[in-house]
Amino acid sequence: MLKLYRDPILCLSLHALILITFSQFSYESEARLHHHKDKDIPHPIQELVSQPPLSPNPNDPSQSPSPSQDSDHEVVYNVRHYGAVGNGVTDDTEPFKKAWDSACSNNNNNTVSVLLVPYGFTFMIHSTIFTGPCRSYQYFQVDGTIVPRDGPNSWPSGLNKRQWLVFYRVNGMALKGVGVIDGRGQTWWDLPCKPHRNVNKTAHAGPCESPAALRFFMSSNLFVESLSIKNSPQVHLKFDECHVVHINLLRIISPSSSPNTDGIHIENSNSVEIYNSVISNGDDCVSIGSGSYDIDVRNLTCGPGGHGISIGSLGDNNSRACVSNVTVRDSVIKFSDNGVRIKTWQGGSGSVSGVTFDNIHMDTVRNPIIIDQYYCTAKSCANKTSAVYVNDIVYQSIKGTYDIRSPPMHFGCSNNVPCTNLTLSDIELLPSKGETDVDPFCWNAYGITDEVSVPSISCLKSNPSTSLLGGLSGKCGSP
Ligand SMILES: *[C@@H]1O[C@H](CO)[C@@H](O)[C@H](O)[C@H]1NC(C)=O
Ligand SMILES: *[C@@H]1O[C@H](CO)[C@@H](O)[C@H](O)[C@H]1NC(C)=O
Ligand SMILES: *[C@@H]1O[C@H](CO)[C@@H](O)[C@H](O)[C@H]1NC(C)=O
Ligand SMILES: *[C@@H]1O[C@H](CO)[C@@H](O)[C@H](O)[C@H]1NC(C)=O
Ligand SMILES: *[C@@H]1O[C@H](CO)[C@@H](O)[C@H](O)[C@H]1NC(C)=O
Ligand SMILES: *[C@@H]1O[C@H](CO)[C@@H](O)[C@H](O)[C@H]1NC(C)=O
Ligand SMILES: *[C@@H]1O[C@H](CO)[C@@H](O)[C@H](O)[C@H]1NC(C)=O
Repeated sequence: MLKLYRDPILCLSLHALILITFSQFSYESEARLHHHKDKDIPHPIQELVSQPPLSPNPNDPSQSPSPSQDSDHEVVYNVRHYGAVGNGVTDDTEPFKKAWDSACSNNNNNTVSVLLVPYGFTFMIHSTIFTGPCRSYQYFQVDGTIVPRDGPNSWPSGLNKRQWLVFYRVNGMALKGVGVIDGRGQTWWDLPCKPHRNVNKTAHAGPCESPAALRFFMSSNLFVESLSIKNSPQVHLKFDECHVVHINLLRIISPSSSPNTDGIHIENSNSVEIYNSVISNGDDCVSIGSGSYDIDVRNLTCGPGGHGISIGSLGDNNSRACVSNVTVRDSVIKFSDNGVRIKTWQGGSGSVSGVTFDNIHMDTVRNPIIIDQYYCTAKSCANKTSAVYVNDIVYQSIKGTYDIRSPPMHFGCSNNVPCTNLTLSDIELLPSKGETDVDPFCWNAYGITDEVSVPSISCLKSNPSTSLLGGLSGKCGSP
């Protein structure tokens, strides 16, 4: 058990996984045994409450009736009862892992497990993988603050530097609370390998890996709600290979100068809802990567700062990428480098299709509407004949102001693979300063637009014949 947390890599061999699962269960049965024997000790391992724990004093013993059959009962696993100190200095990793292992093995039917991170404490924990599957629904209730060790130099050697808090193979979980997950990113952002912050804007040799603050991997039926997540060393909240994800009322905050601090990154995931959240950061507000479909974003505020809402980047290293059925609506993007963006590399294949951007307000945004099929992070990238096919993209009711250093609309499609069936309606984008409109830019872009858009869009070509379209399908198939 003790050795568990040292294992940094998720790509464990099957053998290792079985070992982990086994050692978890053996610990769990111990804990249960312990619990049943010592129900009345002053610091019970578990306590039953009939209400969700409320800060600031969720530990009020009066809230601990005896176990009952009610279907909405919760079994609380307070990390402090597992030895977590919460003074921000002591390493509380092991108590968190023990609390998780117990909560995850609660098989009391008709209860959910609540791993409680209580209000009023700051818990320092290092890179940890909370592994499922669990026997009951899990609430990971963060009412206090969770921080990692401070910076790359104090990251335990041998631990994966690309992820901090990971939930792996969990089916049925809510991560929520009034607390804060603070990634203490500053010293990671300042690594010499990152060009963004040093005076010369040049990258220097040296280690560069930086952890995503929260990562859900191969998990499903997830709620992430109400928390603040701030100052991640890298991506704040990441989902890969996840299904049925509801995000609501999150606040994600880091400085606009912080490099690679995407707000929410999704890849190889489907049925993801992002609602009622505010993200202000230094990179993409939301980024949607390959293998994602059925994504619904509503009432999101992006900025100030950041790079807007991105689909991509897709097709790097000649890879095949498929993204479909994405809707972003009723949202605001302000003081941002991009608004709504689709970015693909030269040389990829696959497609992006069925994307709707509806009712988005832009405030002083560079590139409010952009498709960039020449995405390249090096000085220059060679043009290639293949590309990720961009098709059936709707921009409806996109209004507000743009930073005149870039055109309000930029459709830079591949030479050999045009973008098709772009539909623009009710567009009203005005320069944030001055009176002079900048003309939209189109390259190899086909679509339709209504006549009253501001500025007028004359550079789109009429949709091509279906025979041309027939040759273009990205061959993604239906997901
Ligand atoms: C919990 O529910 C499962 C499936 O319905 C059942 O097989 C099991 O016996 C129940 N366990 C207890 C302790 O009631
Ligand atoms: C920036 O560039 C100047 C001139 O090339 C050099 O002298 C200086 O050391 C560089 N500073 C940093 C922090 O790289
Ligand atoms: C939009 O989200 C904010 C929180 O970011 C919330 O306060 C507001 O009520 C939401 N608006 C709607 C219409 O749901
Ligand atoms: C698109 O995704 C939404 C969820 O965001 C889903 O309800 C809808 O059925 C999907 N549409 C198609 C055609 O699959
Ligand atoms: C592309 O492949 C090269 C060589 O295999 C690798 O070094 C590079 O990191 C890859 N790039 C990306 C963005 O994955
Ligand atoms: C790639 O093609 C685009 C569009 O024709 C052109 O503007 C650009 O200069 C080309 N890039 C290179 C590296 O050849
Ligand atoms: C063009 O896109 C619109 C909106 O997504 C869709 O309803 C329509 O079927 C598409 N047209 C073609 C020819 O695929």
